[in-house]
Amino acid sequence: MGVIKDRFKLKADEVANNIKDVLKEHGNRKIGEVTLSQVYQGMRGITGLVTETSLLDAQEGIRFRGYTIPELQQKLCKAPGGSEPLPEGLFYLMLVGDLPSEDDVHHLTSVWQRRSHVPNHVFATIEALPKSTHPMTQFVVAIMALQTESQFSKKYSAGLNKKDYWEVVFDDSMDLIARLPRVAAYIYRRKYKNGEHIQPNGLLDWAGNFAHMMGFEEEDFKELMRLYMTIHADHEGGNVSAHTTHLVGSALSDPYLCFAAGMNGLAGPLHGLANQEVIKWIFEMREDLKTDLPTKEQIVEYVEKTLKEGKVVPGYGHAVLRKTDPRFTAQMEFGKKHMPDDPLVQTVWNIYEAVPPILQGLGKIKNPWPNVDAHSGALLVHYGMEEYEFYTVLFGVSRALGVLASLCWDRALGFPLERPKSVTHAQVKLWLEGKDEIWGD
Ligand SMILES: CC(C)(COP(=O)(O)OP(=O)(O)OC[C@H]1O[C@@H](n2cnc3c(N)ncnc32)[C@H](O)[C@@H]1OP(=O)(O)O)[C@@H](O)C(=O)NCCC(=O)NCCS
Repeated sequence: MGVIKDRFKLKADEVANNIKDVLKEHGNRKIGEVTLSQVYQGMRGITGLVTETSLLDAQEGIRFRGYTIPELQQKLCKAPGGSEPLPEGLFYLMLVGDLPSEDDVHHLTSVWQRRSHVPNHVFATIEALPKSTHPMTQFVVAIMALQTESQFSKKYSAGLNKKDYWEVVFDDSMDLIARLPRVAAYIYRRKYKNGEHIQPNGLLDWAGNFAHMMGFEEEDFKELMRLYMTIHADHEGGNVSAHTTHLVGSALSDPYLCFAAGMNGLAGPLHGLANQEVIKWIFEMREDLKTDLPTKEQIVEYVEKTLKEGKVVPGYGHAVLRKTDPRFTAQMEFGKKHMPDDPLVQTVWNIYEAVPPILQGLGKIKNPWPNVDAHSGALLVHYGMEEYEFYTVLFGVSRALGVLASLCWDRALGFPLERPKSVTHAQVKLWLEGKDEIWGD
């Protein structure tokens, strides 16, 4: 691990020094204005965070350290015989800022293999929950149980120089990422496969081993996991899971506490849970219409019915994006290559043709195009993973790569406690009447 840690520290020191210079010279420059609507409407469009790992463009979609998803598919190292990127490579890129060599990727694979041991009390804690507990709840409880292993928490209690915070956060982050596939696979096998668990395979890569521990040995499913773990990893800093992880980290909570907090946010239906909602919605549509391959006309009618019931069309819309999500497109390409005749996958594509004009017609939706969640479930179902309540856990394992790489940066850059100002509505009214100031300490 030493090499990657050293490279990360070197990079982070360079950026930290530059931030000092920039703030000294430009610290008082205004970066934007804040309107009252933005304050009341989810702080959309307010630039208030620094996140190094990725950047989202509303038209173009996500870039990880400057690279688009198709570029990553081309440039990152693959598993032998495979064509999808290994998520280890993306993690290296997000953490260090440069494309990794093949050796770097293999090094990360073996470090994560070595650090993947999960203590027994974590499994016992999961077992204490009713099997019916939602997999995301089991996942968060398991992460909290793992917190006993936090080096940061132990060393902080013993007295840690603040210059050294980053190093223990780095170590905790590596341990946590290494352990998550085992924990998630355990929850999957416990809930859906009669508790018949599968031991890790020390020869496989991180995502391939995850697929293996869940019980999926088909090479194509392993490829899907590599793609899935790569494209779900990060979406700049303001989304709920990334922002929560960062916010909790600003209180110097250790990486286990931060990540568990982020996962509670991912479990919300407007965020990560949307992927289970999508497939549930399609299954319900198929049942309602009594067909595996509804026509476009039938889809249109069903969408209108969903909207009339006051529900959202899951998998469509985005807080920032204004075009088709390139993560949707990457999955569509995977579908075209591996399962073009699958009726469920074809239904996802037919929905893609039917939904945007309807949403556009409503006149209030800023983005009528599909997001990442609109496609993922259909690919998983193709390989036999039909337990859609589990999908957000897959998303969570992947999201660890981005939010924990970011947390390492937060501590290496010495970011302080996050504490924006809030106001009451009464105060806003006084301000509007010119009777009081609104921004004060
Ligand atoms: C992602 C999402 C939460 C973004 O919300 P947002 O930034 O507030 O979106 P907008 O500003 O475009 O919303 C404006 C209006 O359109 C509605 N809208 C947005 N997406 C919609 C959808 N997919 N179906 C129906 N209505 C939708 C909103 O509910 C809102 O209605 P309101 O003014 O009556 O409250 C929203 O698009 C959504 O709920 N999508 C479905 C869930 C989903 O796929 N989530 C995963 C996101 S990666």
